[in-house]
Amino acid sequence: MDQTIVVTGGAGFIGSNFIFYLADRYPQDRIVCLDCLTYAGNLSTLRSVMDRPSFRFVKASITDREAVEKLFEEEKPDIVVNFAAESHVDRSIENPSVFLQTNILGTQVLMDACRKYGVRRFHQVSTDEVYGDLPLDRPDLFFTEQTPLHTSSPYSASKASADLLVLAYHRTYGLPVSISRCSNNYGPYQFPEKLIPLMIANALADKPLPVYGKGENVRDWLYVEDHCKAIDLIMRKGKTGEVYNIGGHNEMRNIDIVRLICKKLGKSEDLITYVTDRKGHDQRYAIDPAKIHRELGWLPETRFADGIERTIEWYLEHRDWWEEIVSGEYRNYYEKMYSNR
Ligand code: NAD
Ligand code: DAU
Repeated sequence: MDQTIVVTGGAGFIGSNFIFYLADRYPQDRIVCLDCLTYAGNLSTLRSVMDRPSFRFVKASITDREAVEKLFEEEKPDIVVNFAAESHVDRSIENPSVFLQTNILGTQVLMDACRKYGVRRFHQVSTDEVYGDLPLDRPDLFFTEQTPLHTSSPYSASKASADLLVLAYHRTYGLPVSISRCSNNYGPYQFPEKLIPLMIANALADKPLPVYGKGENVRDWLYVEDHCKAIDLIMRKGKTGEVYNIGGHNEMRNIDIVRLICKKLGKSEDLITYVTDRKGHDQRYAIDPAKIHRELGWLPETRFADGIERTIEWYLEHRDWWEEIVSGEYRNYYEKMYSNR
């Protein structure tokens, strides 16, 4: 084995795509997935790598110091990539506590273990939401790595707190860290509570498509595999103590995404229903990815037109994966969040 890489949160959307990417590209590396399987974690997603001798799955929380240390003692990882998080903004508005526990304290537990076991690189997967939002009428503005942190939701505040802690561990203890802040991802295995898979699932069932506010908020969409490539580059070649923004200059209004999904699925736009806006709803995200391009040569490779086609195709071909989710416990969440909205 060349090196051992611990991927936390690898049973979720981006973490699982990252594991597939590593397994394909570096078959000589050992990959250990640490995930406690919250509602967003799905072991069946990892079916294709589960039987590989160079892959191990460990069910534990990143907040469980004893379990994390035991794993590090056994595996002596070279690199740790932290995807594990509570990731949905709407849930953070309903119940912030678990966001602070997992996203901040869990990150601390991981970094303490990295210090104890001399891990060569701790990579924190962060988000563009730590920068807050940009006004809709200033298309000339973008988030750079120098943009001040200015958060809106308990989710983004917890991610920004973790980022500060990661940089503090670098400065105080010399822990070799890096941080990436990416824009909105889409692609296979995204949990159907997020905009694109939710709209695909609802449209296929001819259910209302709940657009928050006027649908004018803008997100900067990146195909998940492009995000995975960027993280891989940063954790291997990026400078320690540095932050890298990741994004593909692909800004779209929510309403245009929803209309596009209707068109692709041959559904009527009459399904679109405007509902009460999200509290504190960020207007626009837009990443300036110049640093990662300049220093590491990264550029997004998937055009949105192709990525969305591939994503819709994937949801059509993997109905069993998401139908099981939408018919289970998630149904209660959906009822609570969307009925009477
Ligand atoms: P996700 O919600 O799909 O998956 C999160 C995973 O973490 C799940 O498998 C869950 O079981 C696991 N997890 C949660 N709490 C845990 C804990 N205490 N211990 C161990 N495992 C735990 O999330 P995602 O969309 O794949 O996001 C992954 C990371 O990327 C997050 O840190 C998120 O902040 C960041 N991010 C996401 C996006 C996006 O568009 N989805 C964009 C930028 C950054
Ligand atoms: O920017 C990166 C972030 O992107 C990540 O850090 C988060 O983990 C990830 O969840 C995502 O956050 P958003 O809040 O941007 O994603 P979400 O899919 O929840 O919403 C996208 C936009 O669509 C947002 O403006 C809210 C809107 N929306 C969302 C849902 C679920 C709707 O209009 N209706 C909906 O039902």
